[in-house]
Amino acid sequence: MKKIQLLKICLLITCSAAAQQSKNAFISSLIQRMTLEEKIGQLNLLTSDMDITGPFMKAGYKKDIEAGLCGTIFNAYTPVYTRQLQEMALKTRLKIPLLFGYDVIHGHKTIFPIPLGEACTWDMSLLEKSARIAAIEASADGLQWTFSPMVDIARDPRWGRVAEGAGEDTWYGSQVAKAKVKGYQGSDLSSPNSILACVKHFALYGAIEGGRDYNTVDMSRRQMFQFYLPPYKAAVDAGVATVMTSFNEVDGIPSTGNKWLLTDLLRKQWGFKGFIVTDYTSINEMINHGIVKDEYEAGALALNAGVDMDMQGSIFSSQLKKLLQDKKITIAEINAAVYRILSAKYDLGLFKDPFRNCDTALATKEIMSAEHLRDAQMIAERSIVLLKNEHQLLPLKKEAKIALIGPLANSQRELIGNWSAAGDYTKAITLLDGIKSKTSNVTYAPGAHYSSDTMLLKKALQKQRLTVEDTANSAQMLAEAVALARRSDVVVMALGESQGMTGEAASRSDIRIPDSQKELLKAVYATGKPVVLVLMNGRPLTLEWEDANIPSILETWFLGTEAGNAIAAVLFGDYNPAGKLTMTFPRNTGQIPIFYNHKNTGRPLDVNNKYTSKYLDVSNEPLYPFGYGLSYTQFTYGAVSVSKQQITAADKLQVSIPVTNSGNYSGEEVVQLYIRDRVGSVTRPVKELKGFKKIFLEKGETRIVTFDITIEDLKFYDKDMRWTAEPGDFTVFAGPNSRDVQSASFSLK
Ligand code: BGC
Repeated sequence: MKKIQLLKICLLITCSAAAQQSKNAFISSLIQRMTLEEKIGQLNLLTSDMDITGPFMKAGYKKDIEAGLCGTIFNAYTPVYTRQLQEMALKTRLKIPLLFGYDVIHGHKTIFPIPLGEACTWDMSLLEKSARIAAIEASADGLQWTFSPMVDIARDPRWGRVAEGAGEDTWYGSQVAKAKVKGYQGSDLSSPNSILACVKHFALYGAIEGGRDYNTVDMSRRQMFQFYLPPYKAAVDAGVATVMTSFNEVDGIPSTGNKWLLTDLLRKQWGFKGFIVTDYTSINEMINHGIVKDEYEAGALALNAGVDMDMQGSIFSSQLKKLLQDKKITIAEINAAVYRILSAKYDLGLFKDPFRNCDTALATKEIMSAEHLRDAQMIAERSIVLLKNEHQLLPLKKEAKIALIGPLANSQRELIGNWSAAGDYTKAITLLDGIKSKTSNVTYAPGAHYSSDTMLLKKALQKQRLTVEDTANSAQMLAEAVALARRSDVVVMALGESQGMTGEAASRSDIRIPDSQKELLKAVYATGKPVVLVLMNGRPLTLEWEDANIPSILETWFLGTEAGNAIAAVLFGDYNPAGKLTMTFPRNTGQIPIFYNHKNTGRPLDVNNKYTSKYLDVSNEPLYPFGYGLSYTQFTYGAVSVSKQQITAADKLQVSIPVTNSGNYSGEEVVQLYIRDRVGSVTRPVKELKGFKKIFLEKGETRIVTFDITIEDLKFYDKDMRWTAEPGDFTVFAGPNSRDVQSASFSLK
């Protein structure tokens, strides 16, 4: 038996070595036949005019394709259009096929919750599934490459792009990174429904100062390695095919020109084999950064640092030839970049079948299929976080007379959120439609505009001029909504942000519910009717007043195509919510940055002692902590216990905690495990997530939930930057969120 297995393994190794050899031979011979211009063309990524995702556009991309001067196109899709462009590429001298990329961030046509919302499912199989479906639809629609996942750790909710990632935790973010890469790429890139994933933005983009987009990042190497780099590394370990640089600098050098980052760390230390693409015009932006004086120097810095593909900047096309003549770069560097890009095209099978993603019939069959929409609703339901539910106001009774109020209650565009790619918002199910499918006892009034701040609206909605619908009749709208509330038994209010207030270039210095909506909420609250607040937004908001006054609050993010059905299922109790936050909700913006895995400091909070680390005007505690989320049922936690008091490096420690469903509904709970290293050669966080289990318990059922802890869970970067576990005492915490935990101790010998 063993012999046969060994033989099989040897055969596999021989086959893959042979396959690698023939790939090498194919690409090398192609490179030998390429002119310098053709080589540089392969390093050139241009947007088509179908969509625009950045500041400016180079016209004439079609001419570049026809001349063999552009190897990859983004923002072009559909089998018909990509076929048309591919045919142009195949008329060039060497017939090298184009690669088609796009920002397929949370679904292609079937839109799933924004990534920050989807992360609240704490279910890796679902996160993988939505990426798989996105790949199936995108590949059926002409694409082979997505600019996803974004794995930037984010501790500052002012930054609009927190919507695109999995939140603040390093360990959790690393699990999500792996699941997403697997989902997009499948097990074999040559399968026509696999697409290349692209982990971004490498690196540290989430740590921009003040949460202001595109701003500077400055952090210690220790902070990078311990907290910010692991999710990118997890994606690399999962075999991600491509990496995108970030707009920010890393240790004083923009990522796009940072050789330490791209070559020493990513390629040499981590063993990344794929290709590196810049972010949109980020080579050009190195001039503004003040690291180079012109495009000529920018091109040299980027190529020398390890960049393979220039997104939309056209610097490689305009500068590399001259740089080579001047010996500022080498032909070996160009060849290596060309090799890596052709290698991705080869792995996808594009040389064998350049039209592998151009089948119109397949697109019709796959895109927004009934099955995909069912999954989108299921995932959307599981992304909803119940923040508060006093007196069991939820679930609603179908007989109740419901007033549905708010600018987001009947909106389709907002529901599919930012970066919704090719998503067709006209297919999105509104909350009004979702509620109507459950009861006819509902009446709707918008009540307010997204905001009365016209400057903010102009910027968020990217409009030069606002239309009448954006601002007019505020007083009348409010009066109608209040009157409607008075005539009803219960009010459901859909408030939050317009999708344009979130995502890229959408930082906010004040993360409250915008003024006009808040005014509406207060006016409706004053009627004395019970209010359920359904939040739709792309970031943690500050909700102190809401939490103090509104009995029920549901965080629904931007849930995607099936949003209305998913929220209605939760409102009426057809699905019992189980989502848990992956980003801390602060009490006010002054608390930012705020995150659960902070350090203890030398003067940890003591409310009776003035000279301890705190604010005078707000508590240190967030409003809703990391990992927080309620259910319609109650989960009661027993005492946590450990299998041993002391372990060695070879041992496994078992941590157990009994969890009982002591409420009135069956439901799911995410049981979380945190560890604190009491003393380290460098200071350690007050706790760090190291595991979780999502369980389903019937009413009255108890389960003992267990976790295995090994030495791997205790490792960190020590004072000499070695990844190691140090002997000593540890506390282990288990519970429903990062705050409400039970603890036990053990030590490592
Ligand atoms: C964003 C990237 C995106 C790219 C292409 C940039 O502005 O930062 O995340 O992938 O545009 O659309």
